[in-house]
Amino acid sequence: MCRTLVIAGNSARINHMSQSQFVSKCTTDALQLAATTLLHGNLVAFPTETVYGLGADALNKQAVARIYETKGRPSDHPLIVHLHSMQVMGQWVEDVPEFAIALARDFWPGPMTLIFKRSTLVQDFITGGQNNVGLRVPAQPIALALLKKFEELGGEGIAAPSANRFGHVSPTTAQAVSDELSQYLATDDLLLDGGPSQVGVESTIIDCTTKSPKILRPGAITEEMIEEVTKLDLSYDATEIRVSGSLENHYSPSAHVILDVAPVAGDGFIALSEIPTPDGVIRLASPINNEDFARVLYAALRSGDQQSLTRIVVKQPSGDDISVAIRDRLLRASRGR
Ligand code: TXA
Ligand code: MG
Repeated sequence: MCRTLVIAGNSARINHMSQSQFVSKCTTDALQLAATTLLHGNLVAFPTETVYGLGADALNKQAVARIYETKGRPSDHPLIVHLHSMQVMGQWVEDVPEFAIALARDFWPGPMTLIFKRSTLVQDFITGGQNNVGLRVPAQPIALALLKKFEELGGEGIAAPSANRFGHVSPTTAQAVSDELSQYLATDDLLLDGGPSQVGVESTIIDCTTKSPKILRPGAITEEMIEEVTKLDLSYDATEIRVSGSLENHYSPSAHVILDVAPVAGDGFIALSEIPTPDGVIRLASPINNEDFARVLYAALRSGDQQSLTRIVVKQPSGDDISVAIRDRLLRASRGR
């Protein structure tokens, strides 16, 4: 059981899951506690604009090992290192191509992870033994403040995968993190509550180790946006790089996710608001556009599981915007756990 640290407005409280107490009226104190906890080798789950992350000191082998244990994740799957600013990325990486600087300038802080050749600072326990490292500067005030505080206290970066059990749906609220992980977390671990994630699907991952950028995982930063900023065509060469989110069955709820069929009575249903709900069908979400679809999708899948539904039917959104990421996750979710 970990403690939940709720940061809302300028107040913070610690919640020992059942009973809660104020520790401070000052968010700064709460972040100080979270950053110190990380430096002591404990885990801190924290909000980002994409999904919640499960953070550990990226230079502490034991702490990082606890991420893998807590998630039940194979140890050869690399972790993204989160930084408070692109100014500090230099020590983590060897080669930074021009196009990557352009991407970082335009889209950081934001829902984008860049993969670079790693520096000697980066150990195998972060990269799953690979020669490269993923970096991200998230655009979420609590995440950024935590990263800043962590660095002020002597930390370098926070390694954080999505705060779910391996293969499950990523959490977009503190409650979802708690549902996923509270039984695996320890007393000194913390969960920062920053409200619902605003993007709702994981960051776009871009390989920057080749001549031109290559999308390894689609997200809110789209192919068109990347091409516009870099003035380069994206390459689609086969790559040696492993992305665990690319495993076929990932992002899966317990219910069967079925795409683009007519739902029948008793099915859960997720579709844009303009699409009506047939009789007897349980509407799980009615997003008004594709951005909204991304924002509510994971909570809707979770809600289907909470209602013990057998099937969740999803009418996929179309387009070449964030809907590319939505369709990518739904395809994997539809293949089951
Ligand atoms: O939006 C996000 O990216 C969230 C938030 C918390 O930042 N994080 C996230 O992490 O989705 P995770 O570990 O659940 O998914 C990251 C994916 C994994 O599939 C991992 O294999 C891949 O990124 N990855 C991380 N570092 C990599 C590297 N050096 N090379 C190739 N793939 C990498
Ligand atoms: Mg994940």
